Amino acid sequence: MPSLHDTPIPSSRLDGKVAIVTGASSGFGERFSRVLADAGATVVACARRLDRLEQLASEVDGIVATQCDVSCDDQLSDVVEFASSLPGDLAVLVNNAGSSDAVTRAEDEDPAVFRRVVDVNLNACFVLAAMTATRMIERGTGGSIVNIGSVHGFVSASPNHQAAYVASKGAIHTLTKELAAQWARHSIRVNTIAPGYFETELTHLMFHGEAAAGGRRYIESGTYLRRAGIEGELDGALLLLATDLGSYITGQTITVDGGWTSK
Ligand SMILES: NC(=O)c1ccc[n+]([C@@H]2O[C@H](COP(=O)([O-])OP(=O)(O)OC[C@H]3O[C@@H](n4cnc5c(N)ncnc54)[C@H](OP(=O)(O)O)[C@@H]3O)[C@@H](O)[C@H]2O)c1
Repeated sequence: MPSLHDTPIPSSRLDGKVAIVTGASSGFGERFSRVLADAGATVVACARRLDRLEQLASEVDGIVATQCDVSCDDQLSDVVEFASSLPGDLAVLVNNAGSSDAVTRAEDEDPAVFRRVVDVNLNACFVLAAMTATRMIERGTGGSIVNIGSVHGFVSASPNHQAAYVASKGAIHTLTKELAAQWARHSIRVNTIAPGYFETELTHLMFHGEAAAGGRRYIESGTYLRRAGIEGELDGALLLLATDLGSYITGQTITVDGGWTSK
């Protein structure tokens, strides 16, 4: 048996692998697509805004734009079919697409909005994970599923009351453990990244406009590092979980929040 000293450092590369990234038309998903393509993967970048995806694909070799509404099972099935038809093993899924309810007290929230948010943030992640895992199991190649949770999968969002967002993110964190348990025998790892606050389209109102001063104060005062996260600060967690660097990590939620949940 080789000693620790003789064992090579695991690869952070994904050459010859195929990755699906949902919500790739902006924010984290766009960044994740760039990072995985840079690591050598062919990236199936999905979202509803095809023009954004095509722009991204025109800028980065290895990214393929694929229009998909994640709340439609048929469209998710088409994405997995397409990803499986590409050269290389379908090895990575990043369940990143997400939306939130408007800041509303729970007693005033439209149940249709609650259901719509849960559908995108939770149900679609489950359906796509199951479809992807089925392919990985058929091929016997294993793989890595990375869900995007939130610090609000651990703690309430109040005073920004968002019941559906909190419920869906908490469920993603526990679903991660269950799927990891079920699929470990197929060498499929399932983990979640739980980010704190970053400026994206989703959080735009916390950084710009009337509520910006309060938004920034809320973030800075509650964060050990006294600032929001900046682009690129999820790259390390993504590469750790998506590649062989994290080959012994499964069922975990890794929090990347500048200390926000440690306070
Ligand atoms: N920003 C933060 O501070 C923060 C913190 C914790 C967690 N997160 C999570 O990070 C993930 C990415 O969010 P973000 O901050 O990068 O926000 P964002 O820029 O608004 O990105 C959200 C993405 O989800 C896609 N999407 C929404 N509904 C969809 C649907 N029905 N079908 C397909 N795609 C859909 C959007 O694309 P289209 O509109 O083109 O479909 C967009 O690409 C989300 O899960 C969010 O909850 C964000």
